[in-house]
Amino acid sequence: MFNIEAFDIKLNTEIIGRNFIYTEEIDSTNKYLMSKERAQNINGTIVLAEKQTQGKGRKDRVWYSAPDSNLTFSILLTKDKSLFKNPDLINFAASLAVASAIENLFQLRTDLKWPNDVLINGKKTCGILIESASQSGKIERLVLGIGVNVNQNSFQGTFNYPPTSIRIELGRSVEREKLLAEILNNLEELFNKLKSEKNSLIEDWKQKCRTLGSRITITDDEIEKSGIFYDVDENGFLLLQTKDGIEKIHFGDVSLH
Ligand code: BTN
Repeated sequence: MFNIEAFDIKLNTEIIGRNFIYTEEIDSTNKYLMSKERAQNINGTIVLAEKQTQGKGRKDRVWYSAPDSNLTFSILLTKDKSLFKNPDLINFAASLAVASAIENLFQLRTDLKWPNDVLINGKKTCGILIESASQSGKIERLVLGIGVNVNQNSFQGTFNYPPTSIRIELGRSVEREKLLAEILNNLEELFNKLKSEKNSLIEDWKQKCRTLGSRITITDDEIEKSGIFYDVDENGFLLLQTKDGIEKIHFGDVSLH
């Protein structure tokens, strides 16, 4: 059971998580908040589910998460037009918020994988899925979905990238309430940073991305591109140095060469 009171005591935000919906089971927290008809349309609303029956990953993959052990939640952002100017940098803010929370609370070293995965010891402990709805080319509604493997003790099946959890890496289970509050506290701060000091947020992200400068392969559907991970640009796109020059990459899965 998730203890909402214990979470609430640690939450220091003004907007994010102030409207909090907790549910035992849902199809997908992202799907729920993307639907204007289903969701309460309050900016900063969080939906946390103990179990998702249709958890969604990036690129139409499935997100598996053992019930009652992890954090699977989504955040609704509606009014924040200044944040929507840089939707891809929301990935950076979110992955940094999770990574810093894990490092500060549990002293585990994390690594960020472009565009938004959080790794511990080279294995994925958090995935992020941003979905948005636009009107006349402008984002009206954005849902930030975050899945953190917290206390899951084993992973069965085949994965696109090797998974792990905080519990596996730390050797003990941890309090989900404290972790969620810390992630949201960080996130609100980083959103403010994104609005006022975008370049400094990008620098923070780059500091924690240890594949920067390495030889990588980017896979998007069937297409593979190899080169040096040269940099990220002001929009959060990856710059790949190939023999033909610098190429801007918008989507894809990064793997080390
Ligand atoms: C990925 O790495 O592929 C992204 C995974 C995102 C999973 C989270 S769990 C909460 C939210 N609801 C969903 O259906 N997906 C996201």
